[in-house]
Formats: sequence, structure tokens, C-alpha cells
Amino acid sequence: MSERWTPDSWRSKPVQQMPAYPNEKALAEVEAQLATFPPLVFAGEARNLKKALARVAAGEAFLLQGGDCAESFAEHGANNIRDFFRVLLQMAVVLTYAGAVPVVKVGRIAGQFAKPRSSPTEKVDGVELPSYRGDIVNDIAFTPEARTPDPQRQLDAYRQSAATLNLLRAFATGGFANLASVHQWMLGFVKDSPQSRRYKELADRISDALNFMRACGLDLESHPELRATDFYTSHEALLLGYEQAFTRVDSTTGDWYATSGHFIWIGDRTRQLDHAHLEYFRGIKNPIGLKCGPSLKPDELLKLIDVLNPDNEPGRLTLINRFGADKVGDHLPGLIRAVQREGRKVVWSCDPMHGNTITSTSGYKTRPFDRIVSEVRAFFAIHAAEGTHAGGIHLEMTGKDVTECIGGARAITDEDLNDRYHTVCDPRLNAEQSIDMAFLIAELLKQQRGGKTAPMPAAAGL
Ligand code: PEP
Ligand code: CO
Repeated sequence: MSERWTPDSWRSKPVQQMPAYPNEKALAEVEAQLATFPPLVFAGEARNLKKALARVAAGEAFLLQGGDCAESFAEHGANNIRDFFRVLLQMAVVLTYAGAVPVVKVGRIAGQFAKPRSSPTEKVDGVELPSYRGDIVNDIAFTPEARTPDPQRQLDAYRQSAATLNLLRAFATGGFANLASVHQWMLGFVKDSPQSRRYKELADRISDALNFMRACGLDLESHPELRATDFYTSHEALLLGYEQAFTRVDSTTGDWYATSGHFIWIGDRTRQLDHAHLEYFRGIKNPIGLKCGPSLKPDELLKLIDVLNPDNEPGRLTLINRFGADKVGDHLPGLIRAVQREGRKVVWSCDPMHGNTITSTSGYKTRPFDRIVSEVRAFFAIHAAEGTHAGGIHLEMTGKDVTECIGGARAITDEDLNDRYHTVCDPRLNAEQSIDMAFLIAELLKQQRGGKTAPMPAAAGL
């Protein structure tokens, strides 16, 4: 891989998971048009995120990354964005306060559209059509027209990403994200939660801290640290033609950046060493992620790190582990030991979603909350045993009250899945399950710090 890199050098490599567009010329025209559009993010922001992630790699901060499995055109609206952002901030407050660490907030949002699939086609009642690959590629409806990849959808995805990001930026800096109101939402949540007793104590402690600050004469509204927040966007950079169109030279450094989002990652199905996705990612300077599933061997991981982070720059590479509750113990220690032995600086983050997907008795694709919890616990325990830092969490979640993952404090059952199963791809944690998860992780972070551990209630597998 020592050849010269260009934004399109990936085109000469084998590539996985690319849609078969019927009209190459129409695709090229759309890509040329996208290349003239304004970038969604600025290189300086990506560098700030890389610095924040370097602190995570050093064990001084925690990465909270979450959002939809796949954003959809149909669900694009202010309320969805607001509700997601609100829950993510609530989780961040719980982690910051109870875990006593700075939290780096990254959404799977404003660009998370393209999906890898296990099969290129889907068969229903004897009819075979191309698989749905995310709204940026085709439509989920099971008709030949809907499933044909249409490049025009990339323009819609760009516009939706821009509008989403615009609102998120306004929320992050315009007063919506101030600590006092995040705490007010939390009080509402605590009141309604089946685990209210457990959460009330923490909420009371945060109330006391805020009251103390006010009594000291601190105006919470006027402090940028308390009234605004840093929030970053991320997605799987699967559709390389789209990514290439947004690969731009940063005028301040002369380096190439992906400007479709602050942080982009390589999926578990597209991380082949000599393939196109690796080639694309090696040339851009953003902080990046690599999904690590059960098929990844330690020596292969080291080769991937050589390509993706040759200068061993802390914050550049986040390893997003997604083994499954039953497999994490077999796979993670070997990867950690190889990385430690070679002195590689990485962020270790846990995706407890993608290795824990099952089909329920009633036929829904779901994830049992207790398996998700069990992978998170194992992730922290393994890092404690290896003397490394459990640096982050990567969740598929929504701010809505959906019923997609079974279990949790409200014990969603297989029969409940039918009520509000809205995802266009993988099942997500709902708002309450997400906040429950934040409380659990806060406890684990406290243990990681060597602090005193509050007793865990037996309910809901927490
Ligand atoms: C995803 O994050 O939605 C995904 C497809 O993950 P993975 O590549 O780990 O399967
Ligand atoms: Co997913």
C-alpha cells in the first residue's frame, strides 16, 4: 500500500458491498455534482475530535457514540433529531457526573445512510430482488423499481444530512444543551422510570451540585462550558463514490479530509487489507473507526493498524468491538494483547449491538437487553484484567419510545415488538433503555477508576 494515494485510488482495488447501479453515467453525473457542493464539516472540527479521542486513548475521557442503525428519509424531522439529541445529552450527563469523566459525544447521524448486507438479494414468496442498502441507495419497499439503486438518492441524503447537522449545531450551541435543562429532563425521566429509586439518588446529587454552583454566584446560562456542548457526527463510510465527492483538501494544512462527517468508520464486512475501503481510509486525516468482529485475528489487526495509523497518532483510530456476549471473552483479550505488545495507541470502544442480534419467536430481528448488558460488562472486565482502558460505547439507539430490543427495565417482550417496531434496519435501544445503559456504564466507569461501587439492583439484568 505504499503507492501514491488519491481520493479515487480506491477505484483500482477490489471492493465489497457496492450497489450495482444500472446507469453508470447517471451515477458519475451525481458524483460530479456532489463534488461541487459545500462540505458538511470543517477539517478543524475533525482535528478537535481527534484531540478529544486522544484523551480517550490515554484513559482520560470516555467516548459515547450512538444513533440509528440507518437514518431514513421518511423519519427525517425536527422531533426525531431533538429527541435523539436530548437522550444522548442525558446519557452524557449521567456518565460525566457518575463516572466522573469528560464525555466525547458522537452521533451516528447526519450521514448514516448506507448499509452493508449479508446477501445481495432478498427473496419473498419466491420473488428475488436486490437487498435494501439504505435510503442513500434504494427504497425499502419490495418492488423492482424501489429496490433498483438510484444515484439521485445521494443528493437527497446530502441535503438531509445538511439540514440535520444544521439543527444539531443550533441545539449544541444555542442554549438547548445547557446543563440545567438537561438535568430538568432527567428529573422527568427519573419520575417516570420503573427504576426511579435508583436514579433519584444520582439526580438529587446533580441538583445539589447545580444549586451549589448557583449559590456560589455562577450563572449557569452564561458559562460556555455549561450552556453549550461539543457534538460530532459519524457514519459508516461505505459508499465510496459519495465519500470521494466530499473528500477535500484542508486549506490550512494541505491535508485531505472526509468532509461528509467528523468521524467515519469501516464496517466489519469491508475491512479487507488490500481492498478499496482500506485504501480510501488510509489517505484521509479524520479520526476513524474500524469495526472488529469475531473473524478478525490479532496479526491481521496489527496489519490493518499499520495501514490506518502508521504514525501511531493517538485519537486517529478507534477499534469498535462487536463480538457478541458469548464471544467477546474468546476474541477481545488476544486483540488487546497484540495491540499492547506492539505499543499501538488506540481507543477501545464496545459495540454491544451487532454481535447480539437474534430472530425472535414471532419473527422480528431483535436484541435482548440482557445480552447487550452482558457484552458491555465483559468488555469492561476484560480491559480491567488486561490493564487497559475501556474507552467507549457504540450504540444503536433512538430518542423515541420504540419496541425493538426485548428486555430492559420495562421488560419489553416478544409480543410487544409489534407495537412500535420502526427501524428500517437493526433494532435500537429506546430512550429509556439508552439511559438505563448510561447508568450501568457510569457504574462500570466508577469501578474502572477504582472508586467505590454502588450496589447494583438485580432488576432488568443491570
Ligand atoms: C452497523 O454499525 O450498523 C454495522 C453494519 O456494523 P458492522 O459493520 O459491525 O456489522
Ligand atoms: Co446496525
